[in-house]
Amino acid sequence: MGVAQTATGVTSAASPGPVPMRIPVGHPPFLYLDRYVNEGTRAYSPHAGYTEARESYRPDSSHPSFHLPVFQLPAEALRVFEANPPQALRALYIRPEGVALCVHPQLLEEAPKDPYLRKTLTLGTSRDPITVAPSSSTRTLYVLDMEDPTRLAAPHHALKVHFPFRISRYGRKMREEVVEQALNVSLELEVGVASLDHRFAFLREVLGVTHLDLEPQAPRGENWGYLVRDMTPFPPVQEARRLVPAHALYGRDFFHPERPPLLMEILAGDPAAGADPRAFLLEALFLPIIRHWVDCFLTFGFMLEPHAQNVLLEVDGEGALRRFIHRDLSLGIDMRRRRDLGLPNEGLNDYNRMEDGTFASIAYDRMMGGHFFDHLLAPVLAAFPTLAPEDFRGPCREEFARLFPDHERYFPRTVHYFSEERDEFGKPLYQDTGGGPEWRP
Ligand SMILES: Nc1ncnc2c1ncn2[C@@H]1O[C@H](COP(=O)(O)OP(=O)(O)OP(=O)(O)O)[C@@H](O)[C@H]1O
Ligand SMILES: [Mg+2]
Repeated sequence: MGVAQTATGVTSAASPGPVPMRIPVGHPPFLYLDRYVNEGTRAYSPHAGYTEARESYRPDSSHPSFHLPVFQLPAEALRVFEANPPQALRALYIRPEGVALCVHPQLLEEAPKDPYLRKTLTLGTSRDPITVAPSSSTRTLYVLDMEDPTRLAAPHHALKVHFPFRISRYGRKMREEVVEQALNVSLELEVGVASLDHRFAFLREVLGVTHLDLEPQAPRGENWGYLVRDMTPFPPVQEARRLVPAHALYGRDFFHPERPPLLMEILAGDPAAGADPRAFLLEALFLPIIRHWVDCFLTFGFMLEPHAQNVLLEVDGEGALRRFIHRDLSLGIDMRRRRDLGLPNEGLNDYNRMEDGTFASIAYDRMMGGHFFDHLLAPVLAAFPTLAPEDFRGPCREEFARLFPDHERYFPRTVHYFSEERDEFGKPLYQDTGGGPEWRP
């Protein structure tokens, strides 16, 4: 694919720039980066630093792991959702003798009256707990005991569990429609990913288990469960690669807060970056992530939420950034775009269907532009006083307009965000901030 020059001199094709960004080899492994190199990033809203997770279950605590209780229930007591799970992975959770239901220990400690927990305890028998470590999102848990011989053949994976306690702005439930929709989205992306940029990859949600609804007449199903996330990026590649969460580029190290951000180490060690940090960072990070957002929106109507916790950088053995791995498929779905494309919707349930551009603005302007890009820029602007935010936002606006000429059909003119008001289920309402967008025209 050819690489065109834009008016700003920044390359603007889907292919990588001539010099890929290199992340120094020898940095800590993914699990450490995800848990511990994230200090100071949760400052993007008045709620972002808030958590009701007990200390021992937080990513930013010195507890290396904890035991996740697992109950085995008869298959007919649960619903199982599948999106092409690797057989060895499926076999860990779905067995002839019963289906596993994983329950966050804080639920057992603090919500003994939860009707679905009671059902779990009444119908279920205890299985061996699983040793897990919290990810940066707290309620998604990395399964650590892969050395157990029965787990050997299964790929590395994570369990996203029901955690009805507030982290940041809202409680982190895993209701059935949420579990099911994440798998629906995963399947559709799996089938269609080849039509996206070759540097787009994602973590598949391959298995979901939920309780049956005890109150089908209620306005919303509160029956919950968990999902299984395959940690092998899709599409798979042959060679070994490592993952670096985007927040680890600018977050501080929990144990070594004096260490400069990884991003500054990258800029200092790369001659191309030193010569022109603006063009380097635009090409390496900002523009590809914008391209992926637009590509995914235009192709599927899916609105990625690329804040720094949801984007992973995949690097090869030499440390070169090869792909962006998008995680967390509980995204918004623009039904207008899907109608315009003539896409079928039978494979989707009603969760997070959107009929206007409000959520597009929240995801793009605030989660990506505000929560992530503005904060990623802060140490760069401090180190290079001749650079200004506009040096980055201008080319991003141009690229957005180039890739998405009819964006006005889908996006509002102003930026939208969560309001402090909530609906009957405690979900934040959306509001028009009245402010103009910065990372799109
Ligand atoms: N830099 C960051 N930016 C945004 N959220 C962050 C960041 N670091 C940690 N978090 C936490 O990650 C979560 C982000 O919410 P989000 O809905 O994307 O994730 P999730 O659905 O809970 O989990 P997962 O990403 O594992 O699917 C919140 O709990 C938030 O506090
Ligand atoms: Mg997330």
